[in-house]
Amino acid sequence: MGETAELRVDGKLLELPIIEGSEGERAIDIRKLRGQTGIVTFDPGYANTGACRSDITFIDGDKGILRYRGIPIEELAEKSNFLEVAHLVLFGRLPNREEFDNFTSSITRHTMIHEDFKRFFGALPKDAHPMAATSAAIGALSAFYSDSLDPRDQRHIEISVHRLIAKMITITAYAYKHSVGQPFMYPRNDLSYVGNFLHMMFGTPCEEFEVNPVIEKAMDLLLILHVDHEQNCSTSTVRLVGSSKVNLFAAISAGINALWGPSHGGANQEVIEMLAAIRDQGLSAKEFVERAKAGDPSARLMGFGHRIYKNFDPRMKIIKKACDEVLTQLGIHSKLLEIAKELEEIALKDDYFVDRKLYPNVDFYSGVIYNAIGTPSNMFTALFALGRLPGWIAQWLEMHQDEDFKIGRPRQVYTGPTRNPYVPLDKR
Ligand code: ACO
Repeated sequence: MGETAELRVDGKLLELPIIEGSEGERAIDIRKLRGQTGIVTFDPGYANTGACRSDITFIDGDKGILRYRGIPIEELAEKSNFLEVAHLVLFGRLPNREEFDNFTSSITRHTMIHEDFKRFFGALPKDAHPMAATSAAIGALSAFYSDSLDPRDQRHIEISVHRLIAKMITITAYAYKHSVGQPFMYPRNDLSYVGNFLHMMFGTPCEEFEVNPVIEKAMDLLLILHVDHEQNCSTSTVRLVGSSKVNLFAAISAGINALWGPSHGGANQEVIEMLAAIRDQGLSAKEFVERAKAGDPSARLMGFGHRIYKNFDPRMKIIKKACDEVLTQLGIHSKLLEIAKELEEIALKDDYFVDRKLYPNVDFYSGVIYNAIGTPSNMFTALFALGRLPGWIAQWLEMHQDEDFKIGRPRQVYTGPTRNPYVPLDKR
């Protein structure tokens, strides 16, 4: 037996194996704990719980390191593109030229959605949040493609993965088009994945849509930075829901809903709304930071803090730089960017944030870019979902291939009433 940890319970000494990851991360293997002692571990928020082994993403939150399949996020951001990174996380390696062309061509040729699917959007109110529309639409794919839903069938998996990545841009754009009452645009196969999305999102049938290369590159970068982030809330949701062996579309739809919350992906919308509120109420950045420190829940500094990063979020650094470049290239002066920089500067020097290791996260500047390229704030989280999709799928695939695969089923410590008699209705 390799290294072990000792645990004394009820006077009995237990030796628990320690497993080690490729980057030296160690975990006490407690799989036999309940069987041998009758007790379970207690870890609300799973902050100390490793739920799986994974080869996909490595994060060192103290050093601000993020790598997909070993490749640093900085290199991917500079040299790669979204579909290539999607291939990397999904299949474990960068594609060669032929693989890349085949993958891109297959994705491009699956972007159209069933004509009847448009009526599905028509049934939603105009003011439906795009995340509600997107999660419902992705869930509904399982109704439209019921011929290939078996997560144990390799051919079914392959076609579902391609359909999902391809149709996600169409569905996301249609969620927006529906909300503004504009006609849905058919995808165009001559455009890149991101160019096609921009065309379906911002184009109209009235005139030819020209993809702005600055916007296309910025959007591609943002998608790359969001591709995966190991066992975060939405990814764990995809794994947990998927562990029941439900189809891929249903598991991803659940992940989209998890992402929507303001403590997770929903924060990017909240950041821009916070910046706009500061601007519109004429508050100074300093005043707002003071409110956030006072624990006023309406004034939490959105886009600050992270469960894992306790030094800096490497994605934020890349986005901040891109934000400056994109706005300069587009000739946009943004008051919101000014406020964001001021908030960051004040907070990073303030003991409250320093002591709690609260740093700006991925959501802090991304919204400023989305805002500058004309995306309404309620679409921001849907764009996060678009970027995260390959990561969710990769984690779902990995889970199904895992020899330790088990349905997810945490335990609890029951604290409710002990045995209670049933009292008939007329005696209560
Ligand atoms: N503003 C003010 N105070 C904060 C903030 C913030 N943004 N974030 C954390 N704190 C404080 C908490 O009040 C707490 O203070 P206390 O110790 O005095 O009680 C302390 O810092 C620790 O915070 P927790 O909420 O316990 O940390 P946790 O790891 O559970 O939460 C989270 C992390 C949810 C991201 C949190 O920092 C937060 O709500 N941030 C704002 C929302 C946000 O930006 N979310 C996006 C995260 S990135 C992503 O999911 C893509």
